Amino acid sequence: MMKHNSPILLTGANGQVGYEVTRLASERGYALIALTRQQLDIGDGKAVEQIVSQLHPSLVINAAAYTAVDKAEQEIEAAMRTNRQGPANLATSCQIHQIPLIHLSTDYVFDGNRSGAYKEDDPVAPTGIYGQSKWEGEEEVRTRLKQYLIIRVSWVFGPHGNNFVKTMLRLAAERDELRVVADQHGCPTCATHIAKALLSLAGKIKEGIDDISWGTYHFCGLPETTWHGFAETIIKEACNIGLLDHVIPIHPITTSEYPTPARRPQNSALDCHKIMNTFGMKLPNWQEGLTSMLETVTK
Ligand SMILES: NC(=O)c1ccc[n+]([C@@H]2O[C@H](COP(=O)([O-])OP(=O)(O)OC[C@H]3O[C@@H](n4cnc5c(N)ncnc54)[C@H](OP(=O)(O)O)[C@@H]3O)[C@@H](O)[C@H]2O)c1
Repeated sequence: MMKHNSPILLTGANGQVGYEVTRLASERGYALIALTRQQLDIGDGKAVEQIVSQLHPSLVINAAAYTAVDKAEQEIEAAMRTNRQGPANLATSCQIHQIPLIHLSTDYVFDGNRSGAYKEDDPVAPTGIYGQSKWEGEEEVRTRLKQYLIIRVSWVFGPHGNNFVKTMLRLAAERDELRVVADQHGCPTCATHIAKALLSLAGKIKEGIDDISWGTYHFCGLPETTWHGFAETIIKEACNIGLLDHVIPIHPITTSEYPTPARRPQNSALDCHKIMNTFGMKLPNWQEGLTSMLETVTK
């Protein structure tokens, strides 16, 4: 039973998405209890059950994850603990206390060999431990809980935390030119836009829990680009707002010229028609998110 006046419980509050959910919820007057990893380790089932039973939130949003894609190839246990056992623990407690769960997942559940954007029910085939652990986490949620929304997002960047945008800004300040992979395609997504989408879904759940079409959804920014295209836009925009003093050349390279411990999907594009049609959601423009993010970074 959903308690209308109970707060929303957010895990992973110090991450890119978690931080933005916390900030926006506070701006909009949502009752939200935001817990960092230090306050709640989602891999600890007893701690999860204790918090959920004590607070009895109206909704749990899980923004906690192990997101070090390359490191995960070595730290398999740590990745599985947070990305598989964590959502399993949350889903178990949500099931016991009849609380809905919004869980975030990733484009990296796919192998990237498809041409065209991935739909929610396309076959998964993760290419590394991170993607595998996130897929197993999704499955834990699906098997334990009826009232869940799994939202797969891609190429996340935001003002808080480390990400590709900050790496490009740092490298551009240190070097005369950059080399960036141009044969991986995907959709950058601003953490602020994800937070808005999550709070909008939270609002819909609050309005009428019985009307929600529970399940798995894709949500990402537009337009589709490559890491190289993303990097060019970052540098141009950083120059426009005075964060860098000149544009530096960015040379396109292939994935094979930039080997990484975990193989990335060549095509990460997510088809988001399902979330648009079901919840009337509009897809955000990541370039607008980038401009706002860069303006925050300059402050
Ligand atoms: N980043 C991306 O490009 C990307 C792309 C696609 C999907 N996603 C998904 O989007 C979601 C949000 O990602 P994000 O970019 O916001 O990640 P993030 O910035 O790495 O934040 C994740 C947060 O989870 C916390 N955390 C790690 N292990 C935990 C545990 N056992 N218990 C509780 N908290 C724990 C981390 O704590 P510390 O701060 O202490 O490390 C961090 O604050 C995740 O589900 C991720 O898989 C991300």
